[in-house]
Amino acid sequence: MNELIQARDIRRSFALGARQLDVLRGVSLAVHAGETLAITGLSGAGKSTLLHILGGLDRPTAGEVLYRGRDFYACRERARAAIRAQKIGFVFQAYHLLPELSVLENVLLPGLSLPGAFLQGRKLRQRAGELLARVGLAERLEHRPSELSGGEQQRAALARALMNHPELLLADEPTGNLDSQTGEDVLRYLFDLVREQNLTLVIVTHNEAVAARCARHLVLRDGQL
Ligand SMILES: Nc1ncnc2c1ncn2[C@@H]1O[C@H](COP(=O)(O)OP(=O)(O)OP(=O)(O)O)[C@@H](O)[C@H]1O
Ligand SMILES: [Mg+2]
Repeated sequence: MNELIQARDIRRSFALGARQLDVLRGVSLAVHAGETLAITGLSGAGKSTLLHILGGLDRPTAGEVLYRGRDFYACRERARAAIRAQKIGFVFQAYHLLPELSVLENVLLPGLSLPGAFLQGRKLRQRAGELLARVGLAERLEHRPSELSGGEQQRAALARALMNHPELLLADEPTGNLDSQTGEDVLRYLFDLVREQNLTLVIVTHNEAVAARCARHLVLRDGQL
């Protein structure tokens, strides 16, 4: 089986003053290359926490995450950052574009972390421009994020997530801040691009219709899937 991620008995607790909040209580999960997986659950169930752990952004309290067989949290921070930068694209509910940069620069930015990037400025600009055109923002390259609508900002964030040709896209409520029509628009781009580029997708959502578009749907409840 071609497993991109294997999570084994993941636990994540937070200290709350003297108390301890056990958010994830033994989550095991395999994500297969090329699949689309939706994770739903009540607010506060730990969906974002789990997604961050799967993406190498937050160390679990216990348990392990293997990324293509490699223990994600046993390797050095540099190695983990390199896997994140080169293999994984993130889309969050709040678009997290940098306000001082143009839309084009925001999308291009992850490319600067690639080996040899300083020799490839022109190529990176071209890729960023193509991705922005693909999400319908060809006329917005020099705008600042604040000059875009919410849906446009999220489409730019999607382009940014794809900049380094990731194999895995992790999306956390990507339409949570958008009205339903605009959200549908963003989702259409997202699912089309996942199919076109043969990406693996893990998407956290409250929306059952979004979950139904994925090949597999898991529910996080009481700290377990
Ligand atoms: N850094 C932290 N410190 C303390 N508690 C945290 C931290 N991060 C998350 N939590 C708590 O863990 C629980 C799960 O949070 P998480 O953000 O993963 O939920 P969620 O399922 O994504 O919810 P939502 O659907 O509202 O986004 C919440 O009760 C939250 O308060
Ligand atoms: Mg969340």
